[in-house]
Amino acid sequence: MSVVAPRCESLITVERLGPALGAAVSGVDLNAPVDAATFAAIKDAFHEHLVLLFRDQWLTPAAQVAFTERFGPVEGHPLKSRRALDEASGVHVLENLPGHRGGRNDWWHSDISFGAIPPALSILHARAIPEGGKGDTLFCNMYAAYASLSPGLRRVLDGLTAVHDARKLIARNESVENDEQPIALRLPPAEHPAVRTHPETGRRALYVNDYFTLRFGDMTEAESRPLLEFLIAHATRPENVYRHRWRKGDVIMWDNRCTMHYALYDYGPSEVRVMHRTTAAGDRPR
Ligand code: SIN
Repeated sequence: MSVVAPRCESLITVERLGPALGAAVSGVDLNAPVDAATFAAIKDAFHEHLVLLFRDQWLTPAAQVAFTERFGPVEGHPLKSRRALDEASGVHVLENLPGHRGGRNDWWHSDISFGAIPPALSILHARAIPEGGKGDTLFCNMYAAYASLSPGLRRVLDGLTAVHDARKLIARNESVENDEQPIALRLPPAEHPAVRTHPETGRRALYVNDYFTLRFGDMTEAESRPLLEFLIAHATRPENVYRHRWRKGDVIMWDNRCTMHYALYDYGPSEVRVMHRTTAAGDRPR
């Protein structure tokens, strides 16, 4: 594993987790306020690696919210698909417990892309993990997915929009296979560019996903499906993926503007997996 020297004056170490994306950051305690130099180094590393791992963090909900807020206003889930903590309403609890079968997220997706202004980034803190290496999360690099397409297909996609909606998420919560609350709220579908320019790095990333993208603009679902399936398969080729094996205390942040993720459901309904998730607001995709 290579160690990448951070650019700013700070004591953090950044170590690549894989060739496609992901890096582990050490030398910072996220329960304490993060100084300006360390924050700048974390931001640099985030833009370079897209997914950052911080091991052995035991974040209070308030500290998780405070760290997330450094990147932008903390947002609740627009559809209230999970319970939020009473003491910190910006913290969503993704939990699978005996007596509570959690809603599955085993679809490649970018968080809340069905919103008009989807979140820039999400932060997940592992509070409890199933035994035996189960419940991994996979991430893929959507800059690389776009860059590795042929010039001809890139030109086609540059001219397309895509329509995103939450119907699979709503169906998931209503399914008898889990104990999440039915979702009463509804949002109109959102139309975003199929390729977006990251507002901070200026790089172009494919912006469609398997959970929320319904079709391309001005096309039917049937017409769109083959191209969407090709793009999801292309983006999630093993060489473009980092698979994270969770440990209790891990904090992972990912950039929703240039990655997708997939939460493996390979554990049983009575196994314990508890994650605290926060999201920081983003910009309208362009
Ligand atoms: C998510 O899809 O936002 C959560 C991922 C996970 O639970 O691993």
